Amino acid sequence: MSPLLFGIFQYIGPNGTVGSAWQHPDDRSSDFTSLEHWIALAKTFDEAGLDFLFLADSYGFPALGGELIDASVREGRGIPHGDPMPLVSALAAVTERLGFILTTSTTVEPPAANARRFATLDHFTKGRIGWNIVTGSSGATAAALMGRELIAHDVRYDMADDYVDVSLTLWEGSWEDDALVLDKEAGLYADPAKVHLVHHEGPYFRTDGILNLPPSPQRTPLLVQAGASGRGREFAGRNAEAVFVGGGEPATVAANVRGIRESAVAAGRPADSIKVLVGALFLTGATSEEAWATHDEMLAMSTPEGAAAIYAGNTGIDLLALDPELPIAQTSTQMGQSNLERYLGKDGRPAPLVKEVLENFRRTGINGSVFVGSAAEVVDQVEEFVAATGVDGFLIQPHMTPGTYDDLIEYVLPELRARGLMAPEPQGETLRERLFPEGTAHLPETHRGYRFRAGR
Ligand SMILES: Cc1cc2nc3c(=O)[nH]c(=O)nc-3n(C[C@H](O)[C@H](O)[C@H](O)COP(=O)(O)O)c2cc1C
Repeated sequence: MSPLLFGIFQYIGPNGTVGSAWQHPDDRSSDFTSLEHWIALAKTFDEAGLDFLFLADSYGFPALGGELIDASVREGRGIPHGDPMPLVSALAAVTERLGFILTTSTTVEPPAANARRFATLDHFTKGRIGWNIVTGSSGATAAALMGRELIAHDVRYDMADDYVDVSLTLWEGSWEDDALVLDKEAGLYADPAKVHLVHHEGPYFRTDGILNLPPSPQRTPLLVQAGASGRGREFAGRNAEAVFVGGGEPATVAANVRGIRESAVAAGRPADSIKVLVGALFLTGATSEEAWATHDEMLAMSTPEGAAAIYAGNTGIDLLALDPELPIAQTSTQMGQSNLERYLGKDGRPAPLVKEVLENFRRTGINGSVFVGSAAEVVDQVEEFVAATGVDGFLIQPHMTPGTYDDLIEYVLPELRARGLMAPEPQGETLRERLFPEGTAHLPETHRGYRFRAGR
């Protein structure tokens, strides 16, 4: 098995993934408003040789029928949630190799503003930036916050395709690779013949102008996607170089991975041009018993009300209002579909009952496969999971901050490296080369973004 990729999942809020670990005396995640908190974490991840820090984001928050959900506020779940963008420059300054993947939604800011900010960050991070392109979880509240109507699910993805087109046009088309001259004697900053106005007129967005920055190390940030609905997968096939998928049953994850690779092929790209990383929680310790004790402690901090609030925020469905003895009757939603599809009957299996959905969601959270045990046991489970699903790596979900990471680094990473499942050192200078060491810092020719490149 070749080395896997390992990223860390965080968001600017009190964690964790399953339950509310912030309330544990040893947890520091409620320090999320302090820059020092993030600097210490980023340095730890960098020194441990992890591939990247992923910062999730959403303007949305859990609500039902236009009202806040008490459990969400009381337990600090989904509220609060800060903006990751201002954090990254500070973290880039104190790290050498760690990549940063940031989420922004295609339903909030105009594409040219978003593109300029990512290009600036690609410079400041020396090419270590990636963009997790989402159409927005908790879409209803995010839309209301922006004073807009919720746009229908598939239309949001149509708009996202157009949004990415604008972004690629600006990143790839404005400056030729050698446009920047910087000749002080000649007083020539850039070659006017090699800087171009670009034009895009799509069904939803138009732009006339330039990306007002010389080409950054990657030009286009690494393009990442995280919605697993059918339309989300199609979007991934066209655009994504990496996809984050939720965990769960290996057979379901395997089907999802196959679907993503098929979407890439349908878009004229090689099946392996997308790296698929699965959300997973690693609970470990010096012994198996210690790990299981952490697991029990985690579940004790996970209430059905808190789980239902997160589920409602993501899908719009209030599990607590449904008959617990029946399956979820609704089969589609205009909000996030992945977490509804996850609990529909499929492949001849009946759909779980609402009480089982709630319990499963309480125990595994929004994204997670949960691996528990000693380092050797966890890595055995990792090997089995990878063999069964074909994923390329893991997006490690937080439980305790920083305890989960201290355990991971002390126990699991050495075991992964000993078995050749993790590279001894992260490879490549830029984030794109980290994921695709055989490629370059720029989008490959097989990506449709390549055809937007100026002067090729
Ligand atoms: C590991 C992982 C991370 C995600 N991060 C985000 C995020 O930061 N912001 C967001 O709006 N959606 C995020 N999502 C996606 C949402 O869960 C949701 O599925 C999506 O926004 C709606 O798209 P869909 O209808 O295609 O599922 C993430 C999903 C996964 C599996």
